[in-house]
Amino acid sequence: MKIINSIAPMQSFAEALRLQGKKISFVPTMGYFHEGHLDLMREARKMADCLVVSIYVNPTQFGPKEDLSKYPRDFDRDSKMAQDVGVDVIFYPPNEEMYPENYQTYVNVEKVTQNLCGLSRPGHFRGVTTICNKLFNIVKPHVAVFGKKDYQQFITIKRMVTDMNLDLEIIGLPTVREADGLAMSSRNVYLKENERVSALNLVKSLKLAQKLYDSGERKSSRILSEVTGLIKSAPYTEIDYVKICDATTLMDIDEIATQAVIALAVKVGTTRLIDNHVFGDPLNT
Ligand code: PAF
Repeated sequence: MKIINSIAPMQSFAEALRLQGKKISFVPTMGYFHEGHLDLMREARKMADCLVVSIYVNPTQFGPKEDLSKYPRDFDRDSKMAQDVGVDVIFYPPNEEMYPENYQTYVNVEKVTQNLCGLSRPGHFRGVTTICNKLFNIVKPHVAVFGKKDYQQFITIKRMVTDMNLDLEIIGLPTVREADGLAMSSRNVYLKENERVSALNLVKSLKLAQKLYDSGERKSSRILSEVTGLIKSAPYTEIDYVKICDATTLMDIDEIATQAVIALAVKVGTTRLIDNHVFGDPLNT
């Protein structure tokens, strides 16, 4: 496994592969790997001749009051894990190269970033689309793989790639969960034991929503009031949002008539967790 920690050598490496007719798959990450990341890597590995994984904690997607400095980092552990799943290249650039002095260009996807996390994390998706655009230009992948746990991020990246005519395919993979159903996230390490028990109400509430849907309920308000009640019944929880949206536009809907997603963000103790479920999709727990 190769570790490349500068932009120009990454670009020449990718260009050389392309000239040989080789296919590049890409998993962008902020490191501190868990099984969810490894699952993306294993799948991406099968899709191409060369799998590149980037590790970069992107400052522009963190708000001023967010956890950039305490975001968990462990490069040595990550590189061992990456090697074990067959990653070919880790791209690990420094901040000074990604955002040099006088940096001033950003990519903004307008509508799908407005609702959900866009309401509570202004500027977050602008940071995500900007860094992904840059990484796509550096790694030159044919295919990039994202987890659908960050559903709004996945939809936003797809929109950007379509709108900007970027020449790569975006694949979304289902959320990987712990044995008890908790969606895997680098932030789970912050949960204290009793908070972790409360956090399970997130996936339980998604299951409840699917159950109500299966019994024929289509009114968002009825599903949301039951789901909200279940989450609130767990101690240490503070709801940021629980919403039912059109699965493509991410606008709120009153009635489920098209493909719909229930998305939620809940603070458990001091840790903000997100989860979602597209009605009708399997909910693997
Ligand atoms: O999902 C993430 O880890 C990040 O938002 C991403 C896509 C790597 C961009 O920094």
